[in-house]
Amino acid sequence: MILQYAVVLCLICCTWGYHNNRPIIGVLAQETDSESKHYGDTFIPAAYFKYVEMAGARAVPIFVKKGQAYYDHIFSSINGVLFPGGGVNILTSEYAKAAQILYRSAIKANQNGDYFPLWGTCLGFQLLTALATGKDLMTEFDAENLMLPLNFSDGYKDSRLYGNLPDDVFHYLSKENVTTNYHHYGITPTDFQFSVDLTKYFRILSTNVDRNGKEFVSTIEGVYK
Ligand SMILES: *[C@@H]1O[C@H](CO)[C@@H](O)[C@H](O)[C@H]1NC(C)=O
Ligand SMILES: *[C@@H]1O[C@H](CO)[C@@H](O)[C@H](O)[C@H]1NC(C)=O
Repeated sequence: MILQYAVVLCLICCTWGYHNNRPIIGVLAQETDSESKHYGDTFIPAAYFKYVEMAGARAVPIFVKKGQAYYDHIFSSINGVLFPGGGVNILTSEYAKAAQILYRSAIKANQNGDYFPLWGTCLGFQLLTALATGKDLMTEFDAENLMLPLNFSDGYKDSRLYGNLPDDVFHYLSKENVTTNYHHYGITPTDFQFSVDLTKYFRILSTNVDRNGKEFVSTIEGVYK
């Protein structure tokens, strides 16, 4: 009996006053291609959930093909969004449509002083350029399965992403073949600079060259306006 009380008391103590300040990051789903349809209509690569969790945050899925009310509700329940890599169209897919709603909400939130970060990796990175411009500015590159060091751009030290890099991490990123490229599309620095809509929202933090020596933008960061 005493043990039972002790257990109940302990449960109350443990749940009472238990605070969890770990951010909640929404990870956007995308449509499966025809080869994977038998697994379901949509998916999220599991590595992106692990990536968020490795950093101490909590990850939740954001589904596609939902209405405005769903996205409003989820947006007000999370602290940031990750757009994962994949293989769908960055203008016309359900992934792109859902992202557009989240992107607009994030801009509005940030303008109102509510810090709300968006992160895009791989296709998610390409998507961000399409969300800002309404255009697909990608061209073809030979950069599948290619490990490269980053070529940091002028001013990277003033960025939020790389400004506080410890010396050893800077060394690995700038000298060793530690960044993974798995893409056959990309944006050239020239296409980037000449797209007024892009330079208004993002600046280049690093570039790289593909197997044919063609230069592509490899990291960008949003600029505060
Ligand atoms: C790094 O980028 C600069 C600016 O685009 C370029 O001049 C330089 O050749 C690049 N270096 C490498 C190793 O790609
Ligand atoms: C990086 O990989 C390239 C070949 O892709 C190689 O030539 C170069 O030596 C490597 N650099 C380092 C620091 O390992």
